[in-house]
Amino acid sequence: MAYVTVSMLLLLVVPGTQAAGKEPGNNFPLGKGKVPAIFTFGDSTVDSGTNTFLPDPAFLANFTPYGQTYFHRPTGRFCDGRLWVDRLARYLDLPVMKAFLNPKTTDYSKGVDFASAGSGNLESTKATVKSLTKGNVANTDEQLQWFLQVKESLVGSIGAKATEKLLGRSIFILSTGNNDISYGYILNSTMTELYTPDQVTSLMIEAIYNTTKTLFDEGARKIVLSALGPLGCLPTNVASNNGSCVESVNNLVKLFNSKLPALLDRINANCEGARVIYTDSYDTVEGFIKNGTEYGFSRGSYGCCGTGDYNGQPGACGSVDVNGTALYNLCSKEELKEYVFWDNAHITDKTNGILAHMFINGENVVVKPYNISALCD
Ligand SMILES: *[C@@H]1O[C@H](CO)[C@@H](O)[C@H](O)[C@H]1NC(C)=O
Ligand SMILES: *[C@@H]1O[C@H](CO)[C@@H](O)[C@H](O)[C@H]1NC(C)=O
Ligand SMILES: *[C@@H]1O[C@H](CO)[C@@H](O)[C@H](O)[C@H]1NC(C)=O
Ligand SMILES: *[C@@H]1O[C@H](CO)[C@@H](O)[C@H](O)[C@H]1NC(C)=O
Ligand SMILES: *[C@@H]1O[C@H](CO)[C@@H](O)[C@H](O)[C@H]1NC(C)=O
Ligand SMILES: *[C@@H]1O[C@H](CO)[C@@H](O)[C@H](O)[C@H]1NC(C)=O
Repeated sequence: MAYVTVSMLLLLVVPGTQAAGKEPGNNFPLGKGKVPAIFTFGDSTVDSGTNTFLPDPAFLANFTPYGQTYFHRPTGRFCDGRLWVDRLARYLDLPVMKAFLNPKTTDYSKGVDFASAGSGNLESTKATVKSLTKGNVANTDEQLQWFLQVKESLVGSIGAKATEKLLGRSIFILSTGNNDISYGYILNSTMTELYTPDQVTSLMIEAIYNTTKTLFDEGARKIVLSALGPLGCLPTNVASNNGSCVESVNNLVKLFNSKLPALLDRINANCEGARVIYTDSYDTVEGFIKNGTEYGFSRGSYGCCGTGDYNGQPGACGSVDVNGTALYNLCSKEELKEYVFWDNAHITDKTNGILAHMFINGENVVVKPYNISALCD
């Protein structure tokens, strides 16, 4: 009888987390109520639906088959399911991330997501995306303005003192930089002529410092920044490079990543009382791509959903003809487990889940100088 009770409990609990193998066994392993809210800033790695509600968005993912694995409907996330921040929210007994721009998002007390796919920290990123797509993204500075509105609204509803306390205990996530490199720099000849790789990555770092300092001045105390992954190994880049990772892109990423320890030192020197860490998935994701045996990955730089070599053609996942017939390849649900990438440029729900677990409770190889669970007190 005792056996039956235990297995029933497990059945009830497991679906809340995820069967990726390396997930903790209970629902809210970081503890309920320890972190009241998560505020998220950045690009498509953490956009839970902002672009869906942005005027003239440059990039969208609010159509089938996005969301097919977990939400079973498109949510605007550039994924088949959850982003890593959604897992973090779940582990803290918070709702999955909600886009600030979604008119249905009216309660800010558990946090909100400002991230916009395609955005960056440099003006040239927004300008280049605009000239290439005719579309709009919300750069980090615009996301900060939205946050100031949210703060004002919180002060109005719970008062200044309670808002200060809430923000001080919340986790702030800034996952950004990919598009500064791929759009704002590489695809903008003015920028590549004006700035060396060393200069442009320093400019990105300075912009991120400025954002972090502003967040600190507004009350943030627990901040999670992000190193960049192997951008040159995205299906879209590998497809353009005869099957190999684009090393010039990866070298820019590595240069940017190498400046994060000094950024942390600078923040620590100027933001007394802040706890700032950064996730660093570069080696881990490169490992998944090159030899993912340990996690069941065998389709390294292939997108599950898309067209062209490696399914790497931009914007192809979800495209249909006038009759609604799919114009894209889609791997089966069984095969999807073997894919690191969902589409031409974004990782799967499974990959996000493994990374989330590492960021939350992993060693200081993937999250530095310590993991997110250390912020959950
Ligand atoms: C390149 O970046 C500059 C600086 O932000 C911007 O003014 C310009 O419009 C961009 N050029 C293109 C072609 O996107
Ligand atoms: C960072 O802030 C300083 C001081 O306000 C400003 O001079 C600088 O232009 C900003 N840098 C970037 C890259 O945003
Ligand atoms: C592309 O890769 C194939 C197989 O590795 C090789 O035979 C071919 O020469 C390469 N093409 C170019 C243009 O590098
Ligand atoms: C891939 O990694 C596994 C362990 O994770 C190892 O056993 C295997 O030898 C590796 N394969 C290659 C080709 O490196
Ligand atoms: C769409 O359907 C119509 C009617 O069946 C057909 O005549 C037409 O060729 C189809 N168009 C495409 C692009 O498949
Ligand atoms: C993650 O951080 C917690 C809290 O500081 C610590 O107890 C744990 O050992 C860390 N995990 C790893 C794998 O380092």
